Amino acid sequence: MFYDTRTGDHGLPHNPFKACVVPRPIGWITSVNETGVVNLAPYSYFNGVAGDPPCVMFAPGGRKADGPPDGSKDSLANVERTGEFVCNLVTWDLREAMNVTSAAAPAGVDEAAVAGLEMVPSRLVKPPRVKASPIHMECRYLQTVDLPCDSPGARNAVVFGQVIGMHIDESVLTDGLVDMAKLKPVARLGYMDYCVVEEVFPMPRPRWPMRARSDAAD
Ligand SMILES: Cc1cc2nc3c(=O)[nH]c(=O)nc-3n(C[C@H](O)[C@H](O)[C@H](O)COP(=O)(O)O)c2cc1C
Repeated sequence: MFYDTRTGDHGLPHNPFKACVVPRPIGWITSVNETGVVNLAPYSYFNGVAGDPPCVMFAPGGRKADGPPDGSKDSLANVERTGEFVCNLVTWDLREAMNVTSAAAPAGVDEAAVAGLEMVPSRLVKPPRVKASPIHMECRYLQTVDLPCDSPGARNAVVFGQVIGMHIDESVLTDGLVDMAKLKPVARLGYMDYCVVEEVFPMPRPRWPMRARSDAAD
């Protein structure tokens, strides 16, 4: 099948786009407003985008009903005003709490408190960290790129940040490596579906020039 996304005429029961960009890691973003009220929300348009220095992105899209007139979601408004955020990693044990924090609570409501999550201070930035999450990235805001937006009163933006501090709980390390079997990261699929990483396989990268298959064994 093929469809032109500009007409949205896919003929399927649900828009398949998100189910075709999978799995998406979930950035569980902590930010604070100017008065220090904590905000916590999951973003699966999230990823690491550079390693040296480490940088991440998350993309708040759509419209926040009671939000600022430009439609910005609270995480976006907070990060643009205060210049800092934290990415907490979502694990299997945290999946339900993460989902609770996705509710469209009014600005000024601390979703971490609503979800009953204990928060701990960060070292380099004001937004706190989700204590039960084994990996936290303390980030300094770099810039926002505004994308086309088809919904009136809404805003589609990509927020870039530089990771200036990394916390990794020793409990998810095996011989100094982050161990996926211990970490059990949860990722977003399409529709209402998620997956959890439970199996990994290694695949060494090829060297150039590549050798013919016949002499690859020696
Ligand atoms: C797993 C998951 C992933 C989500 N990913 C995104 C996303 O990438 N972009 C987005 O705008 N909303 C996303 N949402 C919805 C937001 O979490 C939701 O709109 C939330 O209320 C935004 O909170 P905020 O206004 O406090 O930033 C996601 C929700 C869930 C449960």
